[in-house]
Order: sequence, then C-alpha cells, then structure tokens
Amino acid sequence: MRQRILEILRKRAPEPVSGEELSALLEVSRTAIWKHIQVLKNNGYIIDSVPKKGYILQSAPDSLRPEEVVTRLETKWLGHSINYDEAVTSTNEVAKKLANAGCKDGLVCIAEEQVGGKGRLARGWFSPYARGIWFSVVLKPPFMPSEASKCTLLAAVAVVRAINEYTGVKAGIKWPNDILIDGKKMVGILTEMNAEFGHINYIVIGTGININVPKESLPEDLKDIVASLADVTAKKINRAELLALILKNMEEFYELAITEGFGPVLDEWRWWSITLGKEVRVIAPNETYIGKALDIDEDGLLIVERGGEKVKVIAGDVSIRPAQTEGGKY
Ligand code: BTN
Repeated sequence: MRQRILEILRKRAPEPVSGEELSALLEVSRTAIWKHIQVLKNNGYIIDSVPKKGYILQSAPDSLRPEEVVTRLETKWLGHSINYDEAVTSTNEVAKKLANAGCKDGLVCIAEEQVGGKGRLARGWFSPYARGIWFSVVLKPPFMPSEASKCTLLAAVAVVRAINEYTGVKAGIKWPNDILIDGKKMVGILTEMNAEFGHINYIVIGTGININVPKESLPEDLKDIVASLADVTAKKINRAELLALILKNMEEFYELAITEGFGPVLDEWRWWSITLGKEVRVIAPNETYIGKALDIDEDGLLIVERGGEKVKVIAGDVSIRPAQTEGGKY
C-alpha cells in the first residue's frame, strides 16, 4: 500500500495529491491514507501536507527499503520478492534461512547494516549502516553443482557493468570476483551453495558494495586497501537505483547462461578483468607462488604460467603484483 502511495505521489510531484483522491484510487479510507503517510514520514520521506490540496512528496530518504527498490526494478522475476532488514548479522545467513524454509527463486535479502558480515576465506566484511549495498540473492539454478562457482563470476560481471552504466566508473575484476578501483577493493562477492549429488537446491550470492564508507570508520588493516564508489565519482549515488540496475543485469546474464551456457558470461568477465596478462602472486591453500595470469578456462579457473608450465588455480586468492609494490594488498 505504501509503495502504491509513493508511486502516485512521485508521479505527480511537485503537484499535490489529495487524501480523497488517494483513498479513491487505493480503495481505503482517508484515515488509512493519513496513517500510511505518517509511517512514510517516520521512514524519512519528506511529505508536505498542504491544507485543502493534499500531499506533496518533496524527497525520499537514501534507503534500500523495498518501496525504494521496487519502483525502480525492471526485472521479470529477480527481486520480485524482497526481504528487508535495518540490521542483520549477515544477509547471506538470512537468505540461507529463508531458502531452507522454501522461499521463492529470485528472493533478494537486503540490509542497511550487517553486524557479522562474512567475506571469502573466512574473513569478515565491514558493513556499516547505509554506507553500502549489502544484499544476497537466492537462485535455484538448473546447473550442475560444479557450475555454481561460475554464478559468482556472473554476479561480478553484472555488478561491474552496472557500476559503469550508472556512474561511468570503469572498475575491474580481480580473479575470481573482487571488484577493484585503483588497486583497492570496492566490491566483494561470497557465494554459498546447498546441493545434493548432481543437483543444486539453491545458491546464495552475497554482494557487498562500498558506496560511501568513511575512511576514518574503517578498521586499521582495511584503511589502505578498501575504496568506496563515492571516492571515484562525483555523481550522487542513489543506492536503490544502482541495486535495481545490478539486479537487471544479473537476471539478464543468468538467463543467458541458462539458454546459451556460460561462454558469453566468461567472455564478458575477460573484458572486465584486471588480472589477465598480469604477473600475480597466487596464494593457494598449501603454497604461494608467482606466475603470469593467462586466461580463465571454461570452468572459470585461472590459468597461470608458472615456470614455463600452465597450471590452474582451483582455490585460494591472487594478488596483482604491481599493486603490491605500490603498497596495496589486492
Ligand atoms: C569477499 O570477501 O570478497 C566477499 C565479501 C562478501 C560480502 C557480502 S555483503 C552481503 C553478503 N552478506 C555477507 O555476510 N557477505 C556478503
């Protein structure tokens, strides 16, 4: 209901819409409309009530509430069901819980703040209130479990492209799925899977995008290696707009992968890659070595030239060497 009220006010602004008209359009009493308007005001919407004329929407808060995301969403199914929280431990945990309870394919879990945000390789993810986009999508893909890791590459491509479309900023993907700007990490993606032999029950793709994380608020060990989108663009970022665009790209790439396989996604990944062609330090579970990143294979594994031989990186992390010499970790 509040979403419908906002849609009407938004379309009509800066003209007023009377309580009477809203109540007729939405088939509820004027008192009910008034109560919804009070809730919207409490949620940070600036709505003027002009005597004898009606309500005028002056501004919306910078919020990822469903009403802000849904009005901008252009997807066919992804994000048509949204779980929103002000604060959670981790949106991946929320998503897994809802997936275990049988949620819809394409559910998106969003939070303004994560107090126990999780990163790859058992790291954490710093997720302060309203300073980023912290969200997880639940997908029930028809792929084999061995293909799940390619969904992470797909998500990275969807995000880096959306950031470019929205702000013009050309960030790059470091294998497998970190999005970096000037050698600093701006986006991280953590995919978790629930599968049986030969069948994926669901995957949860959790994405964290630093939009405007104040440097001084960052833990000491992250200060020099983390970037925010607002550091590199003058554009005023509306997080709900950017999220809607990401979901649109994600849906498009996902449907493409279902109909044509992952080839086009991997090609797009190569285009945005900042790893390929570079000398890298590979931090594998049992060893660390230097090599040259040549390509990714059809499974998304990194192919590295190591002492004249081609080897595949199956697990672990890589850092790009020139960035290291400049002091960056990534
Ligand atoms: C990484 O280490 O690069 C992955 C970071 C993933 C962070 C996101 S934020 C939303 C979702 N919820 C989590 O707890 N983690 C992911």
